[in-house]
Amino acid sequence: MTAANNQQEATPFTPMSLAGKKVVVVGGKTGIGLGVARAARAAGATVIVASRRISLSGERPDLADFEQVRLDVRDESAVKAAFDAIGPLDHLVVTAAPDLGSWGAFMDADMQGVRRYLEGKFLGSWACARHAAPHLRPGGTITFLTGGMAARPKIGFAAVTSAFAAVEALSGSLALELAPTRVNTIRPGFIDTDMWSFLPVEHRDGLRKKVEETFPSRRAGKAEDIGHAALFLMTNPYVTGTVIEVSGGENLVPSVS
Ligand SMILES: NC(=O)c1ccc[n+]([C@@H]2O[C@H](COP(=O)([O-])OP(=O)(O)OC[C@H]3O[C@@H](n4cnc5c(N)ncnc54)[C@H](OP(=O)(O)O)[C@@H]3O)[C@@H](O)[C@H]2O)c1
Repeated sequence: MTAANNQQEATPFTPMSLAGKKVVVVGGKTGIGLGVARAARAAGATVIVASRRISLSGERPDLADFEQVRLDVRDESAVKAAFDAIGPLDHLVVTAAPDLGSWGAFMDADMQGVRRYLEGKFLGSWACARHAAPHLRPGGTITFLTGGMAARPKIGFAAVTSAFAAVEALSGSLALELAPTRVNTIRPGFIDTDMWSFLPVEHRDGLRKKVEETFPSRRAGKAEDIGHAALFLMTNPYVTGTVIEVSGGENLVPSVS
């Protein structure tokens, strides 16, 4: 075999451009989802953000670049109708999740909390993927979002850990079942979004400080860090069926919260 035969044909380097692509971010009006929506827009995509609330342009000028769709992921027929109306798309990212603290504890008197959480996180992610899939163009991707608890459970969070682990299992299953559509999951660590606004200001500042002091990254995560990872997953044609931890090394140090 000659040296020339032995060499693989070089593929031109493709930057992380989404020019001409349509991206739908479910949960994209706040927090991590908004970070993903902004990254996709900056990369040239047309971006649709979907969640339960529609914001009027005067209230949220930062959403002016995006089309808004009203969608509750717990309502399967509404999810189907929304994706049928959206039509062909290139990339789906699902960041939506029930409000923090809404899941209850394992020993609660009944299982309402876990049912609610699984419905919002696991079945909601499932419904979005199920009803977006028929509309995905060739080269399309689906990206789910979990969190460190998928692999590192904490006392009191059995519902969250179970839902995250189930989403990651779904992600791998769909990478096979929907191939060559690529399906991946981002597993963030602490990201400084308004999800933490339920904490008193001093407590939230203290948490951020602990993160900055103890995480190997020596900084707190930002929504745009997850946006960057999402862009990578949408544009790298050889990544599928994987879970990317974007956590500043949170997985390597003791828990701060
Ligand atoms: N921030 C962190 O430190 C962190 C770390 C690890 C993992 N995570 C995970 O990342 C996810 C998002 O975090 P975030 O910081 O972006 O939180 P967030 O700002 O509270 O975002 C949650 C989004 O989900 C939407 N949503 C909630 N229920 C919905 C439903 N039934 N249907 C459609 N949309 C719904 C909300 O919009 P509407 O209210 O308009 O519906 C909101 O835009 C959560 O799963 C969280 O557990 C976060």
